Amino acid sequence: MSDTPQLVIIIDFGAQYGQLIARRVRDLHVYCEIVPHTVSAAEISERKPHGLILTGGPSSVLTEDAPRLDPEIWGLGIPILGICYGMQLMAYELGGRVEQAQKREYGQAMLKKTVDSELLRDMPEEHSVWMSHGDHVLDPPAGFRVLARTDNTPVAVMGDEKRHLYGVQFHPEVVHSPFGNDMLRNFLYRVAGCRGDWTPASFIDSTVEQIRRQIGSGRAICALSGGVDSAVAAALVHRAVGSQLIPIFVDHGLLRKNEKEEVIQAFERIGMPLTTIDAAERFLSRLKGVKDPERKRKIIGEEFIRVFEEQAAKISAERGPIEFLVQGTLYPDVIESGTGQAAVIKSHHNVGGLPEDMQLKLIEPLRNLFKDEVRRLGASLGLPEEMVWRQPFPGPGLAIRVIGEVDDERLEALREADFIAREEIARAGLSREIWQYFVVLTSTRSVGVMGDGRTYGFTAALRAVTSQDGMTADWAEIPYPVLRKISNRIINEVPTINRVVYDITSKPPGTIEWE
Ligand code: XMP
Repeated sequence: MSDTPQLVIIIDFGAQYGQLIARRVRDLHVYCEIVPHTVSAAEISERKPHGLILTGGPSSVLTEDAPRLDPEIWGLGIPILGICYGMQLMAYELGGRVEQAQKREYGQAMLKKTVDSELLRDMPEEHSVWMSHGDHVLDPPAGFRVLARTDNTPVAVMGDEKRHLYGVQFHPEVVHSPFGNDMLRNFLYRVAGCRGDWTPASFIDSTVEQIRRQIGSGRAICALSGGVDSAVAAALVHRAVGSQLIPIFVDHGLLRKNEKEEVIQAFERIGMPLTTIDAAERFLSRLKGVKDPERKRKIIGEEFIRVFEEQAAKISAERGPIEFLVQGTLYPDVIESGTGQAAVIKSHHNVGGLPEDMQLKLIEPLRNLFKDEVRRLGASLGLPEEMVWRQPFPGPGLAIRVIGEVDDERLEALREADFIAREEIARAGLSREIWQYFVVLTSTRSVGVMGDGRTYGFTAALRAVTSQDGMTADWAEIPYPVLRKISNRIINEVPTINRVVYDITSKPPGTIEWE
């Protein structure tokens, strides 16, 4: 397997759907990266991409300050697909005519092929596409043919087949363009000559090689939280350098029922023993009497760093210096923070704000991957399904799900109740459609009656939401029988809880977690 996968570069003009284009390309098994439109022709040539995709964007090429492209890029001989703004820019810069359309076109439109072409090969003569544009191309540049049109857009798809330059006015990347994927596939496979061999297995081969070279005979350390990203990053680095990686699992005593054992066993199964630090007492004693959610988060973050630092120092003293820190930074973090440097600063925060003065060089093997690619990679590395598909779990753990003061009794009640809720939701077959589901132990106590006696116990709240990314969320419509089962079991099986409520607040205005 060659070291570098075939590459397609996506040049970003401020698109709303930039990441989505990258997702689609990768789903077609072609590796791609997103770069800003200020990239130079020399930088592009150096990477030897098979193709370029120019994204859409909010600007108009007819304005002075519109974002442009290094003009030498058009002549590099690399196949280019311009989407929306990318197409308009291609037309404008290569001598065609672009004008502001009389009518903004937004929404569904019927695309009609005008001639046969590689780009639209094996796609229906007419099909529905998603449009969203103000400007449009009136005349394509010399050498281009009109490949398709819509009623409002005379040049909806254009191509210069000799130079391998294509432009589409519609958005192939959104689901409302049902044949969008076919068009992208044609561009990648037929026009750009990609093989489509970007898979988790090929990624593992090439990345393991790189990591080996980078670490050499040095030593690396990583902190595991039980979360997917750090687990997969660690498993990958372990595949590369074996015991030169020292994976540290800090048990802060705020994990869910059985979680610690599950994490340790999962890593044992792939031949990677964890150095487990049992720090539950330390965390709990620092949290004693603390009620404020922000204080709780802060204490946990600080204590985590302290435990990790102490452990790193101990290992250095015993086995020699550690030079590398492995982190599970993902591509969306890298893109959002814009530059490599900013990404590094942010990723420090991802693992609890590890201090700069640790002087460790960062290894971030997942920094070019999206979340679900990381999950597939984790499965290929042999991590169990439950681990790679697990729902998000906050770094501060159950401490922010016990409202107010955290102590052993409350944590124990929450662990049991949460376990029951998760078990019943899984039994009902709802675990994939509900994005996140858990129990919160509120600070409210109420009176109940059980048998012949009065009870005075905690109120537990069930929280279950549907979401894409956790930024917005809606409460899940769990069937009543499932709610009833969860409530009955919690009250019968957890002695300190005598009331269960269901949280029916969406985000916004609520948040997913209560603290
Ligand atoms: P909120 O409560 O802000 O949560 O709606 C959104 C998502 O983020 C998770 N979350 C965290 N994850 N460290 C994390 O790693 C944290 O401190 C943290 N706080 C919230 C939360 O579980 C939800 O998925």
